Amino acid sequence: MGAMDAGTSVLLVDDDEGLLELLGAALERQGFHLTLAATQAQALRLLETIAFDAVVCDVCLDGGADGADVLEAARRLHPQTVVLLITGYRQAWDVNRAVAALKGGALDYLQKPIDPETLGATIRGALREARLHARDGHLEFMELVDILSEMVANSIERVDPYTAGHGERTRKYCRILAERCGLETTVTERLELAAIAHDYGKIYLDDLGFLTKKGPLTADEYRAVQEHPSLGASKLGGHSQLKEVCHYVAEHHERWDGSGYPHRLAGEQISLPGRILGVVEVFDSLATRRSYKDVWKLPKTTEFLGAQRGKAFDPEVCNLFLDLLGEHGQEWMRAPQEDLRAVGLECRA
Ligand SMILES: [Fe+2]
Repeated sequence: MGAMDAGTSVLLVDDDEGLLELLGAALERQGFHLTLAATQAQALRLLETIAFDAVVCDVCLDGGADGADVLEAARRLHPQTVVLLITGYRQAWDVNRAVAALKGGALDYLQKPIDPETLGATIRGALREARLHARDGHLEFMELVDILSEMVANSIERVDPYTAGHGERTRKYCRILAERCGLETTVTERLELAAIAHDYGKIYLDDLGFLTKKGPLTADEYRAVQEHPSLGASKLGGHSQLKEVCHYVAEHHERWDGSGYPHRLAGEQISLPGRILGVVEVFDSLATRRSYKDVWKLPKTTEFLGAQRGKAFDPEVCNLFLDLLGEHGQEWMRAPQEDLRAVGLECRA
């Protein structure tokens, strides 16, 4: 339980009263203060008088009422309230609905069955995001580093512990490569922030099991995966200092030859920081065991990156990165395993 849970008020809305009691009790045990509502009318009455820190609402309430009305009322009456929506069992996941819910002001979208621990972590994450969005004053670079690192640690790395340290390593290699590319300090700092948070949008894929899925994705799953750069950028987009950071996050899967996603940008249509992040992020993913692949060795990795020079990657950026791998390659290939050991996970090479 984090310190922020103490006194965090949550309105939980679900027509399944058994589930409502069960989830409510589990969240109480995590330190949240719960108010329960079994109907939309009840929820709307409560929202007329009480400003909750967070509202968690089933989107298909009894009687055909749509949870979107609760979302709308919460946004109108209490703009600072964080709203999370949940869908019914076996209801098809729909990224468009998730995006529509986000545009309507929901901060997250979960699918039943709901694990109380995950729900608690999601509420805490959403409250952190809301605080970032609400802070319109100037934040120092290291404050932003801390906020984004915490958001990533409590989302993607919590769901898939094997990604531990990926953002931080990507940040370090991006900084060194940016120096070689001659980027100025302010741009390099924005790139570092984008490196930390580049896969933040993947938390939306959690309910689909993508993050930990073994084997190849289906065509539908792959299409959904392609949403993660835009979702990440939109989730981080509330603070004026993160404008360019979000731009780089959105670009991290674009490719030099136009074969990337989501917008199939090519060449210098992709910003230089976006091109740097693209090659570095691929390198660290290859050096890391993922649910769908084992760790690659250095010779295979450099051969792959070299072959993608002028295809996936900007040839000049790629050459400078290959130079860096000549100097640091062995150390950087070992880094993911060392980070995993630091969090108590062993990685099979
Ligand atoms: Fe990604």
